[in-house]
Amino acid sequence: MDRYALIGHPVEHSKSPLIHAAFARQTRQKLSYRALLAPLDGFSDTVQMFRKEGGHGANITVPFKIEACSLATRLTERARLAGAVNTLTFVNDAVVGDNTDGIGLVRDLIVNLACPLAGRHVLLLGAGGAARGVLFPLFQTKPVSLTVVNRTVERAQELRAAFAPYAGQTAFTAGGFQDLDGWEFDVVINATSASLENETLPLPNSIFAPNAFAYDMMYGDTPFLAWARSAGVTQLSDGLGMLVEQAAESFALWRGVRPKSARVLRELREKSASNG
Ligand code: ATR
Repeated sequence: MDRYALIGHPVEHSKSPLIHAAFARQTRQKLSYRALLAPLDGFSDTVQMFRKEGGHGANITVPFKIEACSLATRLTERARLAGAVNTLTFVNDAVVGDNTDGIGLVRDLIVNLACPLAGRHVLLLGAGGAARGVLFPLFQTKPVSLTVVNRTVERAQELRAAFAPYAGQTAFTAGGFQDLDGWEFDVVINATSASLENETLPLPNSIFAPNAFAYDMMYGDTPFLAWARSAGVTQLSDGLGMLVEQAAESFALWRGVRPKSARVLRELREKSASNG
């Protein structure tokens, strides 16, 4: 049986083993996928050990996505631009690093949520690793404008400088939360980790255009989504679909077959609803 794993710290509450097991059942692929806790100073050793055991590939999560970038012997363009890797594939002596987070976000928005990005005004909140990981795939969807704002304005400006060559026809600007007064957006994506600290962002209610969509890359009923709802937004989503879609992309890379991810997402939503 081919072996795969999620490597991170912590990993015990991850839904990835469940998602990949569902994909394997659905596509009749014989494989195992488990969560593997790596010590904070032992990521590389854990990967080597897993390869020796016959591991075929691994997903990488917090806090090792940047370290996984330097461990890879080859990087895809999207991983190189993200500066982070969430998918490793072991091919003989080579370790190929890829990043499927951005395409996961884009597929969730466009396919699962019927929220187009082409020709629209998109606001990305945050300029950390999560924001960096989705910028290149967002540009590929050809929004008319993409604005990045961050608490620390310099980080947003650094992202702008790094990604400007990839913006194509999209008007790409960067700033701070205070610069948003008077501007409206069709799609607002929260890529900050503020929800983890249970904090809301200092955003004006007026940033939402009529029929705007609010998306939080974290999952659960986050403070950002609660705030967007109170600002009158009716189209909202957490990041559960992004999690399923990035997993589906990794699965397709490893196995050469694409699972029906929407079905697995529906099952997960039903399960979390019945768990209260
Ligand atoms: P990640 O990999 O999750 O993106 P990160 O690189 O540490 O983690 O980035 C966290 C992001 O969330 C940053 O954009 C951070 O803003 P700063 O660059 O100013 O630190 C943002 N963030 C975290 N907590 C926040 C809060 N309470 N309010 C606003 N922004 C917050």
